[in-house]
Amino acid sequence: MNNLTQIAYLLTSIFFILGVMRLRSPATARSGNLLAGIGMAIAVIAVLITDHHFSFILIGLAVAAGVIVGTVSAKRVRMTAMPQMVALFNGMGGGAAALVSIGEWIRSSSAGESWTATLSISALFTILIGSISFTGSVVAFAKLQEWITGRPITYPGQKAVNALLFAAALVIAVILMFADPSAMWAAFLIFVILSLALGVLVTLPIGGADMPVVISLLNAFTGLAAAATGFLLANNVLIIAGALVGASGTILTQQMSRAMNRPIANILFGAFGKVSAGASSTGDSDGVVQPATVEDVAMLLAYARRVVIVPGYGLAVARAQQEVRQLADKLAPRGVNVIYGIHPVAGRMPGHMNVLLAEANVPYDKLYEMEAVNPEFPETDVVLVIGANDVTNPAARNEPSSPLYGMPVLNVDQARRIIVLKRSMSPGFAGIDNPLYTNPKTNMLFGDAKETVGQLLRALDDV
Ligand code: TAP
Repeated sequence: MNNLTQIAYLLTSIFFILGVMRLRSPATARSGNLLAGIGMAIAVIAVLITDHHFSFILIGLAVAAGVIVGTVSAKRVRMTAMPQMVALFNGMGGGAAALVSIGEWIRSSSAGESWTATLSISALFTILIGSISFTGSVVAFAKLQEWITGRPITYPGQKAVNALLFAAALVIAVILMFADPSAMWAAFLIFVILSLALGVLVTLPIGGADMPVVISLLNAFTGLAAAATGFLLANNVLIIAGALVGASGTILTQQMSRAMNRPIANILFGAFGKVSAGASSTGDSDGVVQPATVEDVAMLLAYARRVVIVPGYGLAVARAQQEVRQLADKLAPRGVNVIYGIHPVAGRMPGHMNVLLAEANVPYDKLYEMEAVNPEFPETDVVLVIGANDVTNPAARNEPSSPLYGMPVLNVDQARRIIVLKRSMSPGFAGIDNPLYTNPKTNMLFGDAKETVGQLLRALDDV
């Protein structure tokens, strides 16, 4: 590898790091994405210029296929389907890393080359982790796309079987490291099959709604697999990029599980949603639900001084983000101060609400994170909860028996009035009742959020 390539890789790494840094805020995220893309382009061009061991036609075909599939799917995907698209793209990365290692293993074994321990460990680690990431992501995709049930698929002794298969894969890996590879083709094949099977088996018992956390974890796996491939190919930029993906995926996974107040082990092995989904366990189900009319709510909003809009998964389902921004725009000239309260796990993927609201050009300085907005609620005249449920459930604060107990929530119940926009009394992802709905300060405005906010916009003209 010549100096020019090394300088290009260094530049690429700097672009990647700057890109990741800029992804920390919605205001700079687009430019962060662009910087990372430029870094990637530099690395690809450097390889094309300095390495001539491949067919330009094949590379061209692969790039064209990637560009077409990527552009068409990114343009057509619905916002609610974003988690499964991320899962699929991420899984491809893991699968690609595994394939590179499998290819290298077959090539060098056939050529009778001997490997150092570092290279063997790198290759076997990549095959194991990359394959788990690939098949695990495909199962995550199938669950979220509802091709298979989103509920946890469990059977007696499942954890023991998975642990046994994992141990078997490790034993075979050790044998492969020390034996003559050319005499061990059967063992190598079994190792690859076991690695692929493990991805399926460990993802099946995880509930569909926990998938975003699992996808983030698998994303970290893909990063680690890419970094290990970097050791195998002696490619520094792969090591750095893989480490960045591995580290950011791990941090994101941790942050999500902390925001849900669920240890990562509980998400992976707890089969959450198997019993609780659909069950109404906690909450004041004897309380009185007070429906409101559109005209009442329009009046309340028009004469409020401070309004906090709390969006949730239902906003994404209804695709009501444009109407919500128009509502805020209509209230502003009346002197109403409208801000948005964003829970870190509102919706179904990290940053879901930020992305939705950015799509509707809601100014970033109007978005308040949970820690910033919670002290504001006691001074808030009206909270408009739009398609959010679990992230507003006060039982998480004061009912130790609730499955949500301990999860930090938006304290919307502390506002003077609470208006909840949803279609019915159905529970949210956690499958439990929300005592907020029977709070004497709460009024329910039933209906699809897009339609209801549209009606509110029209009603405001008459106030
Ligand atoms: P949820 O608790 O799932 O509640 C969404 C609510 O939206 C439902 O109660 C539903 O009620 C309503 N809804 C659905 N379609 C609607 C429509 N067209 N118009 C109006 N309302 C509609 O959502 P949340 O409050 O955003 O909480 C997110 C949940 O997902 C949390 O439990 C969180 O732990 C979990 N989770 C999140 C993530 C990430 S990273 N965001 C990852 C994994 C899990 P109706 O059916 O009555 O309308």
